[in-house]
Amino acid sequence: MERPALGVVQSSAMGTVKTIGILTSGGDAPGMNAAVRAATMVALSFGIRVLGIRRGYRGLLEEQFVELTGANVDEIFRDGGTMLHSTRCLEFHSVEARDRARGVLREHGIGGLIVIGGNGSLAGALALSDPQEGGELAPSVIGIPASIDNDIGLTGMSIGVDTAMNTIVEACDKISDTANAHDRTFIVEVMGRHCGYLAMTAGIASGADLVLFPEAGRPPGEIVESAVKAVLGKQDASGQVGSTLIIKAEGVEIPTDELKSRLDARLDEELGVKANTIETRVTVLGHVVRGGRPSAFDRLLGARLANVAVRALLAGATRKMAAWMPPVELPEEVAERSDFDPYCWLVDLPATLAETETLLRGDSPLARWRASAIDDLEDVFSI
Ligand code: F6P
Repeated sequence: MERPALGVVQSSAMGTVKTIGILTSGGDAPGMNAAVRAATMVALSFGIRVLGIRRGYRGLLEEQFVELTGANVDEIFRDGGTMLHSTRCLEFHSVEARDRARGVLREHGIGGLIVIGGNGSLAGALALSDPQEGGELAPSVIGIPASIDNDIGLTGMSIGVDTAMNTIVEACDKISDTANAHDRTFIVEVMGRHCGYLAMTAGIASGADLVLFPEAGRPPGEIVESAVKAVLGKQDASGQVGSTLIIKAEGVEIPTDELKSRLDARLDEELGVKANTIETRVTVLGHVVRGGRPSAFDRLLGARLANVAVRALLAGATRKMAAWMPPVELPEEVAERSDFDPYCWLVDLPATLAETETLLRGDSPLARWRASAIDDLEDVFSI
């Protein structure tokens, strides 16, 4: 079929980039495979050769290449982790290593690189593509944000966050069953490095009694007292303390074991012998949060960001990141951004209903975009 919208990549770069490289780097994130698959299929549809680079920047330095084809990426979107494997490559902090990497890319004819990863990986991409550092060997690089922590700027979501959030909520639901049965207090520690996003969102979604996150900047003593307050708040008229769910981000100042022992000690003080019946328990979810099949949202996010990233690369862009933001072009007379939440808007209801009508009729710009986007991708993914 005709694909007129693909004209955006019919630039001079179409002729110059014959091979692209794709690597995943840093902590893996569910949905990375969906991004690898989509990037590969979109590039192949333009006749571009795709080399996967195994084990991130370390694999690049060691020339660990694998040819990516429709056959070897077709089924990977269901899998967590990354089929390309990943590493945290400290060596890449040095100019010498990056010089070597640029040489390797040139030797293998890789004109453009897609880097899928978090903050460190994107910083590596920026340094690698720096024309001042690399001169004419500096490759074109486009980044795709992937990190369960959701700690990457200028994108509303990163690949892996949604799945991780769902994993935490599922775990907390299970923990709540047993916590309720025994009227216990649970402290559940979740990943997120220095960022409390996962703890905060999962805390809301799983009905936690207290969420502890590093951005609050509370000193340990205050954190302990807020936990005491949360537990005592579950005490009924008979004095029985009900189950309490405390979600704690790993980046919070106080270690989880210390929080448990200080909380227990304070509850002993407050409740005397009753504290023995509270039985605080700790569950550290750890790497469980990072694994598992990607959610439908993460598969879509990975695919959509990769689609945009490859097209940008082939159109001649470099040193950019494909990012995810809700569409924000709302006319001032019908929409006002909420002061309380930058992702939320207050929109005029009649305008909303009128827009809904055009959406359902299929003639709103969004409906037309949806239809043409699927049209464009029909041949790429054989949908
Ligand atoms: O950045 C992703 C992340 O999973 C963090 O949440 C966590 O602190 C870190 O990686 C763990 O890294 P590693 O798997 O190297 O121990």
